[in-house]
Amino acid sequence: MDNILHHIAFIMDGNGRWAKKRLLPREFGHRAGAETFRRVLTHCVELGIEYVTVYAFSTENWKRPKHEVDELMNLLTRYLKECVADADKNKVRFCFIGDIEPLPDALKAQIKETEDATRAYHHVANIALNYGSRHELVQAFQNLSKEGKTEITEEDISRALYTRDCPDPDLIVRTAGEQRLSNFLLWQAAYSEFYFTKTLWPDLSNREIDEIVTDFKKRVRRYGAVVSTDGEKGENV
Ligand code: IPE
Ligand code: IPE
Ligand code: MG
Repeated sequence: MDNILHHIAFIMDGNGRWAKKRLLPREFGHRAGAETFRRVLTHCVELGIEYVTVYAFSTENWKRPKHEVDELMNLLTRYLKECVADADKNKVRFCFIGDIEPLPDALKAQIKETEDATRAYHHVANIALNYGSRHELVQAFQNLSKEGKTEITEEDISRALYTRDCPDPDLIVRTAGEQRLSNFLLWQAAYSEFYFTKTLWPDLSNREIDEIVTDFKKRVRRYGAVVSTDGEKGENV
């Protein structure tokens, strides 16, 4: 039986290397990367995937040169403005995961506008912005402690995370060759499948997405149980 792909997450990496290969400033790579995300999101919706999560800016990305960070913030603001203008056409609900507070005011206002303008749609795009999994977990534990919780369950923790409204990712794809999570969805990835490709994010084609999805469908997800050799889930022995 094929796996169903409800939730795909992307670590969009390699924008800088894409620009460097073309002797362009890194910002050009980010612009190309934003266009790739626009296309990839549409393709995922066409494939019937209900949740698409992307890592757009990590809590560690503030360490980059100020002009690159400023350019990324401006690019994100412009991109979201276009998402609001295209909301009727795209029919995607934009949600944001991460600590929004330290972001520039213009971006924060645009986030609010984007959430409000797209709230009615069924397919979800989670944009991870100033997102770091350790920060998310620390905040979750602090909130549970403030509520006076002493007997904490897995469900309590899941409900205290930014991702409380969506299922865990079935598949996490990282582009550009690095094989690490870089502080992305550490709790939520407990039983995710992983796919690493050397393709730089701006070059990721719809055809490669199709290949990645086909590969995912063939995987045997055991969740710690015993599975018979013909790929069908069997009884625990
Ligand atoms: C990913 O591309 C985008 C962000 C992290 C914002 P990079 O900018 O990390 O690209 P490389 O890794 O330098 O090629
Ligand atoms: C991960 O990429 C963060 C995003 C894609 C937003 P990085 O380029 O920041 O990760 P490292 O530094 O290579 O681990
Ligand atoms: Mg990178």
